[in-house]
Amino acid sequence: MKPEFSLSEYLKDHKKLVDDALAGYFAEDEQEIRLISEAVRYSLLSGGKRIRPILCMAAAEAVGKKAEDVLAAACALEMIHTYSLIHDDLPAMDNDDYRRGRLTSHKAFGEDIAILAGDALLTEAFRILADREQMPKIPLQRLLVASREIAEAAGYRGMVGGQALDVRPQDKKGTLEVLYSLHRRKTGALLRASLRTGAILGGATKKALLNLSEYGERIGLAFQITDDILDVEGDPKLLGKETGSDERRGRTTFPGLLGLQASRERARDLIAEAVSFLTVFGGRATPLKAIARYIVDRRS
Ligand code: IPE
Ligand code: IPE
Ligand code: MG
Ligand code: MG
Ligand code: MG
Repeated sequence: MKPEFSLSEYLKDHKKLVDDALAGYFAEDEQEIRLISEAVRYSLLSGGKRIRPILCMAAAEAVGKKAEDVLAAACALEMIHTYSLIHDDLPAMDNDDYRRGRLTSHKAFGEDIAILAGDALLTEAFRILADREQMPKIPLQRLLVASREIAEAAGYRGMVGGQALDVRPQDKKGTLEVLYSLHRRKTGALLRASLRTGAILGGATKKALLNLSEYGERIGLAFQITDDILDVEGDPKLLGKETGSDERRGRTTFPGLLGLQASRERARDLIAEAVSFLTVFGGRATPLKAIARYIVDRRS
């Protein structure tokens, strides 16, 4: 009999793959540039759920590739995400003091170095994607397509655009429609791209890629709705960041517009819809199914 799937084991094993690989990328003791080197390591190697790289690897597995074959791309996604957190916390943005259970980068190193640490992580991500030796088993053409995918999601139509809308809303009225667009860009885009990257690198069929995109679209939105909910009712100790930040900054959020209960329901509906797109993968999508539920049930 097949052993029962354990999500916690799956997350632990895949997180370890990512954590070890990330430490390897910044392992060298760069004496001459030690301050920025320390700042990058401080934010990147300080925990974090590693959900984007895990989704990338899970998508590759769902289309029949090994997690290790796409590990470098998974790490690149985590670097981009960590850069976005460092910049998101800056005084000019959310002005937060804690992240991943420790002081934010600008609190620990100063704003100048925090900005540069973010820049370094973003740039390093694309260096890795463009380095042929990083993923020797993946055809070059797929690496090119995945790089474009990631750039599009992280860039100005995606995460950067969403962050801009968050700090400077373009519509006076924060309607639900505006909020969906904001969440889709600032958080959904990179989560969806993480899945698409794993699928593209793994050689997914058109149909498999489409299904993973639909799944990603929905879990991406549900992830940010849950983040908004946790900002209201979460435990700062578990989250590793302070709560109440959205309210303090007057941000438009799901709980703010719909209330907590309706927001929870919306997130759950999105997860149910997301899971329905996994049927075509059969047993290979067991991890993705469990991850979808974890995204709304999480406490951190
Ligand atoms: C927090 O992301 C910022 C959002 C996009 C909502 P995560 O909740 O994935 O943060 P870490 O990586 O686990 O610290
Ligand atoms: C951040 O959204 C989204 C990013 C692209 C970094 P939040 O500002 O809500 O993230 P937290 O709550 O600070 O982690
Ligand atoms: Mg923010
Ligand atoms: Mg923030
Ligand atoms: Mg938040």
